[in-house]
Amino acid sequence: MPRILIVDDESGIRESLKGVLDDEGFRTELAESGEACLRLLEKQSFDVVLLDVWLPGIDGLETLQKVREVDNPPEVIMISGHGTIETAVRATKLGAYDFVEKPLSLDKTLIVLKNAVEAHRLRLENTEFKKQFQAKSVIVGESIPMKALRHEIAVMAPTNGRVLIFGESGTGKELVAHAIHAHSLRKDNLFVEVNCAAIPEDWIESELFGHRKGALPGAASDKEGRFERANQGTLFLDEVGDMSLKTQSKVLRTLDEQKFTPVGDHDPIKVDVRVIAATNKDLEEEISKGNFREDLFYRLNVIPFYVPPLRERKEDIPLLSRHFLKEFSAAYSRRSREIADDAIDTLARYSWPGNVRELRNVIERLVIMNPTVHKIERKHLPPLIHREGGRSTAGFSTLHQARAAYERDYILKKLDENHGNVTRAAEVLGLERSHLYRKMKTLGIAVKE
Ligand SMILES: Nc1ncnc2c1ncn2[C@@H]1O[C@H](COP(=O)(O)OP(=O)(O)OP(=O)(O)O)[C@@H](O)[C@H]1O
Ligand SMILES: [Mg+2]
Repeated sequence: MPRILIVDDESGIRESLKGVLDDEGFRTELAESGEACLRLLEKQSFDVVLLDVWLPGIDGLETLQKVREVDNPPEVIMISGHGTIETAVRATKLGAYDFVEKPLSLDKTLIVLKNAVEAHRLRLENTEFKKQFQAKSVIVGESIPMKALRHEIAVMAPTNGRVLIFGESGTGKELVAHAIHAHSLRKDNLFVEVNCAAIPEDWIESELFGHRKGALPGAASDKEGRFERANQGTLFLDEVGDMSLKTQSKVLRTLDEQKFTPVGDHDPIKVDVRVIAATNKDLEEEISKGNFREDLFYRLNVIPFYVPPLRERKEDIPLLSRHFLKEFSAAYSRRSREIADDAIDTLARYSWPGNVRELRNVIERLVIMNPTVHKIERKHLPPLIHREGGRSTAGFSTLHQARAAYERDYILKKLDENHGNVTRAAEVLGLERSHLYRKMKTLGIAVKE
């Protein structure tokens, strides 16, 4: 039930408004002055305040300013008497939602009130959404690659440069995309996501660029594309490696010109969009196979981010496990749980082919399956992890992964032998220094020097 506060010094107006609004299903409270209004706001929250412009004591405008300073302020509708319309207009500039004139037309007042209630609901929803988004973009992990990643995000997020995030499935690429948006200058605007692998080929263009009524079979009305929706904000092209060549060329043109034409239209639309793309494919390999446009790759890959697989940053496993345990304990049972050291050790030895997502799923399952267990122990872990976690062989699913892991270990060893001196390590390895730098970056090795 929407809560309305009526502030007017004339008791006749207060009471008659209350009568009408109560009948309409609002819950109303009354105040006869600005001071009384502010006192009530300290104790209760309201969706809308109906506020008279002329009041004894502090006047309507001053009350308005104070109302706007409270947390999650209500919408304010000014009630203006004869000759005070200019003041009411000024009030709108100060953040009042709208104004109604005395003598009050009930129809008009009700319409304005209902709109204000809706505006308030949307505003709260938006605030809540932003909070959740911020919470969803916290990157847990104290390993060197994760620290380096967070540092890079802090530096690169505010630059507006295009970002390409690569890494295996489940490593946290989407999370990194969220974090970049949350730290960017665009954080108050939308983060719009498109999963290029999940949308059927016939639809992707209209999804990205929108269409005009009748342009496609089933296009019963105009549709806004994601590029347009993301205007002033961030567009996240997830699984960009799965985009068809045809769509790739249209995306390429859009990036070059910062404008595009909806399907079935002639007039291009100008947009200001920051694109973040992610892929778990090796795009350079896709380029050599002719599946991905090289020019698009270079456009997207202005700032590369590599999210290493979990098996290469096992130091993060205890922290992540406890993080997810806390999350799911709160979500499912509202009681805290601990995890025993032997269970943590076993988790840390497992190879996690599904990366952080797999770990998260395992912890979720542990919480669901053991509703009364206060301390998770080794014996509670799923058999696979129990078994594999006892051994130390890392299971690689592809040759590429095995090679990367080997290369990483080998380069780390040579760097170590040369006290972190990249030039010397490059000499020993028989590589150009710049080549080694690129490799280290790809493999998530932080430069120490
Ligand atoms: N460092 C981290 N800290 C906290 N949560 C994480 C971290 N990394 C990943 N997660 C969580 O793990 C899950 C998988 O991450 P995400 O969806 O970002 O992976 P992805 O790389 O996009 O995977 P895919 O390639 O399969 O789309 C998400 O629930 C995410 O919140
Ligand atoms: Mg993803």
